[in-house]
Amino acid sequence: MAEIRKSEGLIDWLDQRLAVKAFMRVMMTEYWIPKNINFLWAMGVVLVVLFGVLLVTGLLLLMYYKPDINLAFDSVNYTIMQEVEYGWLWRHMHGVAASATFLIIYIHLFTGIYYGSYKKGREMIWITGMVLFIAFSAEAFSGYMLPWGQMSYWAAQVITNLFSGIPVIGDDVVIWIRGDYVVADATLTRFFMLHVVLLPLVIIVVIAVHFYSLRFPHVNNQESEVLNFDMESKKFLEGRKKESKVVPFWPVFLSKDFFVVGFFMTVFFALVCYQFDFAMDPINFEPANSMKTPAHIYPEWYFLWNYEVLRGFFFDIGGMAAMDIGLIAFVIANIVFMVLPFLDRNPMNTAPAHKRPVFKYWFWLLVCDMIVLTVYGKLPPTGVNAWVGFVAAVVFLGLFIALPFITKHEAKGDAQ
Ligand code: HEM
Repeated sequence: MAEIRKSEGLIDWLDQRLAVKAFMRVMMTEYWIPKNINFLWAMGVVLVVLFGVLLVTGLLLLMYYKPDINLAFDSVNYTIMQEVEYGWLWRHMHGVAASATFLIIYIHLFTGIYYGSYKKGREMIWITGMVLFIAFSAEAFSGYMLPWGQMSYWAAQVITNLFSGIPVIGDDVVIWIRGDYVVADATLTRFFMLHVVLLPLVIIVVIAVHFYSLRFPHVNNQESEVLNFDMESKKFLEGRKKESKVVPFWPVFLSKDFFVVGFFMTVFFALVCYQFDFAMDPINFEPANSMKTPAHIYPEWYFLWNYEVLRGFFFDIGGMAAMDIGLIAFVIANIVFMVLPFLDRNPMNTAPAHKRPVFKYWFWLLVCDMIVLTVYGKLPPTGVNAWVGFVAAVVFLGLFIALPFITKHEAKGDAQ
């Protein structure tokens, strides 16, 4: 057994058992972050704070929610919203935080693409980020089912049905996921389990791995400059703080992040108190009814872009059914972001998009196209809308097919 001295206080007591001082040094006070970054680099910490808000408000809602198709709707809309003191506040905070999480995830993701923060040596940061995106998507979808309103029911119907497109075993997979032939009580209780236990646990573990995977490649910077962290940190530790290009994660970087978090939380509470409606669909205030299909079924705003890719292919092409083409396009749309580091054939060029002559057009076209897909994903897919959706879906896929060629051409240019 190791020698244990008489401790000189709580920290020393913990340090002798858990090496907390070394841990704090490696992950906080000597975790070096470049100085040359802007407020966009605070989005990761804003996401951690939002996840905290979702956990706390979720626990409070859990005390009154009933995961049973005969009780769920009333437990949310009457018990929590009208009878429990401040129940409305926890529900609005939970709903607005879910929407805000996706808004910030998209900003965080596009910041990573703009500054090439997924490039050589940083693939694990990107992949764990995308795992978080998938886990949050599953978390949001399962949470949307819980109030058991019309949209909860019909969105579950449509989304679980997508799995029937898997060749041979598709229909069995749908029954396995639903736990029944139709979306029913078994479906609600298993999605409840995913929403409150399994997915939050997965998210907590993956956030830790995401943060840890940044430790060695280090945080990127606005010029995507490759820094000698050993040399720069030495300058900082020797007191040449102005000259050094880095600062420690704690207290310098995090204290600046807290300022951004403070500003963000002010906007967040303004939304919670005055604009909470945007995070709640009016159709979901009607109890689920399997005999009454809503005129128009659509997901929450953050899934509209990939929903529109699915719907965009509305006519058969070369003997292939429209539904199958849409499904293939949908699967591709959900994979391309994950494999982005491998589609980029110029992994050593870490310049930001505005310094890359062709890539900058690719980037902004992608952003505009995803906005068009999101807007049209909410409109009925008829007439001109259907054609706009089709073109935007084709452009989306085309952009990712073009990326390896654009970046390879760029790499040749860099080599000359
Ligand atoms: C809720 C989920 C997420 C959390 C809590 C989270 C958290 C963080 C934190 C704390 C950082 C360090 C500070 C910063 O650069 O903001 C970071 C960096 C990063 N994250 Fe995430 N992240 C999440 C989702 C994602 C997603 C979906 C992606 C996209 C694939 C992603 C990609 C990245 C990248 C590339 C960096 C490095 C940025 C740089 O080096 O400049 N993250 N994340």
